[in-house]
Amino acid sequence: MREQWSAVDRHIEERLLPADDALAAALDDSERAGLPAIAVSPPQGMLLHLLARLIGARRILEIGTLGGYSAIWLARALPEGGRLITLENEARHAEVARGNLARAGLSDRVEIRIGPALETLPRLAAEGLAPFDLFFIDADKPSNPDYFDWAVKLSRPGSLILVDNVVREGGILDAASADASIQGVRRLYDRLAAETRVQATALQTVGLKGWDGLVLARVVGP
Ligand code: SAH
Ligand code: DHB
Ligand code: MG
Repeated sequence: MREQWSAVDRHIEERLLPADDALAAALDDSERAGLPAIAVSPPQGMLLHLLARLIGARRILEIGTLGGYSAIWLARALPEGGRLITLENEARHAEVARGNLARAGLSDRVEIRIGPALETLPRLAAEGLAPFDLFFIDADKPSNPDYFDWAVKLSRPGSLILVDNVVREGGILDAASADASIQGVRRLYDRLAAETRVQATALQTVGLKGWDGLVLARVVGP
């Protein structure tokens, strides 16, 4: 099945996504630099872009930059004057992302902040950069519950919180899992279920990234 999922993703890419040198080069450079091939797929990138456009996002916060592939899709959805802040722990990843974002002509609207996100998030709050309209949480999975709490804290009514990798080939069903990532995702569901300030769902996905899923949570309010 996996091969068919990938072939269909390629079909979707070829039929629906415009050929794009900056995005292709971002993946090439990431690979050349030895970064893991865990960026969102092209169809998922377009989904992020469309969601950002649909809600008219002006301020976007990403947790987990890697080589900047998802950041390019998201930043391109920003209107004039919009900003994306993306948090990355590895200076080496941030360096690759900086080059990729520059090539895509997005350096003026994207800021990469290096360090563990649990240290850089409180600074964002202190600097008065919130509220953000859209969050894309895609970093270390054990911290997902904390990242979700921060997103709610830095949101406004109507903000959209997206969380990647919330199915993990069905691994999230294993309550006894010794995998800290699985436990992080399981606790994220606990938080979502208990949090009255959001309406949420999770969509399972198959494709180039295997069998996984995306949480979509809307902060309740006007
Ligand atoms: N969003 C990217 C993929 C991110 S991969 C895309 O789709 O293109 C996950 C990234 O999170 C990696 O680059 C990893 O270095 C980073 N990361 C891991 N732990 C982190 C932490 N504690 N704080 C910030 N970033 C972290
Ligand atoms: C992993 C992380 C991701 O963000 C992803 O999209 C796929 C895999 C990982 O750490 O294995
Ligand atoms: Mg991911």
